[in-house]
Amino acid sequence: MSWSPNSWRDFPIKQQPEYKDIDRLKEIEGQLKEFPPLIFAGEARDLKDKLAQAGRGEAFIIQGGDCAESFASFDAETIKNLFKLILQMSVVVAYSSGRPIVKIGRLAGQFAKPRSSDFEEKDGIKLPSYRGDIINDIEFSKEAREPDPYRMIRAYYQSAATMNLIRAFSRGGLADLNEVHRWNLDFIKTHPIGQKFEEISCQIDKAMQFLKAAGLTSKNTPQLKQTTVYTSHEALLLNYEEALTRVDSITNDYYNTAAHMLWIGDRTRDLDGAHIEYFRGIKNPIGCKVGPSMQPDELVSLVKALNPDNEEGKLNLIVRMGATKIDELFPPLLKAVRDAKLNVVWTIDPMHGNVEKSSTGFKTRDFDNILSEVKSFFKIHQDHGTVAAGVHLEMTGENVTECTGSASCPITVDDLSSRYHTQCDPRLNANQALELAFMISEIF
Ligand code: PEP
Ligand code: CO
Repeated sequence: MSWSPNSWRDFPIKQQPEYKDIDRLKEIEGQLKEFPPLIFAGEARDLKDKLAQAGRGEAFIIQGGDCAESFASFDAETIKNLFKLILQMSVVVAYSSGRPIVKIGRLAGQFAKPRSSDFEEKDGIKLPSYRGDIINDIEFSKEAREPDPYRMIRAYYQSAATMNLIRAFSRGGLADLNEVHRWNLDFIKTHPIGQKFEEISCQIDKAMQFLKAAGLTSKNTPQLKQTTVYTSHEALLLNYEEALTRVDSITNDYYNTAAHMLWIGDRTRDLDGAHIEYFRGIKNPIGCKVGPSMQPDELVSLVKALNPDNEEGKLNLIVRMGATKIDELFPPLLKAVRDAKLNVVWTIDPMHGNVEKSSTGFKTRDFDNILSEVKSFFKIHQDHGTVAAGVHLEMTGENVTECTGSASCPITVDDLSSRYHTQCDPRLNANQALELAFMISEIF
């Protein structure tokens, strides 16, 4: 079957904006097609190799970031704090598991959101839903909710600037293992979890002193001072993704150059839909969310469509069932894929199946449910002789109050209103995310 970056346009598509000014849309798409790539195909291939390792149990994936990035809260400090948090969690899990960590940010392009309803109603007024800053504005007014193609240009530039900062942090000294203490975020330093991190940092300091005595320093051993944080987002708005899809001059294959890894959401994974059509043609490593409605035979067909050559590291299945459903719904899917001898990389998103509405009206998630779903995921893999390859989280390095719970620094329902800043879904704050990393390290 022939494929091209725009062949998705002949298929039924869900969760898309309705642009009024089609000429303007075409003009913007044309501009984007001329813009430089944000990533290189070789980097996407490296990530695929690392995902293959994770799928074999030789590495572990930590993928995380905002539910939705925003144009309004775009600053170096927030990006730096998320970067530090990813490094902190990686150290904690690597230290106990002995596995290298594949670090992937939900960032530098995570701007488009699927919504459960096309409209939002407030005080008797009905407007189109907010679909992410790449499409429309979160403000509740008719003008703000009108999809504007120019937002794709802004999203591109913000992604480029974010990517640039991530590359600088990765190579410029912040990721140096001699700097581990500096990764501890100010507002958790004094908490039990921050102190637990300090203990690990001191042990790493000792190990670094020993390596120095043996002649290995960050001056002569780049691995000690550099890291790689890959980028990823949900490729939902295919007009944007198509424009950033380019032929790699080395292999002649098509790559999406907007991020190293792209995933398909749970609401747009129909086998005969536009998103599957788009994704089957790109060579990047890709993900697909697997929610409660997925059937075993459907999943096998989906895996075969997305990874026809059964390549290792190509396809990441991101399970998001919910703490109360995973024990019942996940094993039949796992068995079907295992018995069909299909190569996939299994990770757990313990966020999207655990959304609830607090008594005070906030969309939230309880930390106990998040921990419980992660634990079940590991246990089910252990029972089936398969590999739990990583976690996929909505989290921030900021001190927000969006998810309830945590043993070390609990957030109550009444606390939610104090620092509830998310553009979309509630995120783990740095303390909760680090606590989760310690829990994963205990499982190892
Ligand atoms: C998301 O990851 O932000 C998301 C919308 O997830 P899902 O497709 O699993 O609902
Ligand atoms: Co979300």
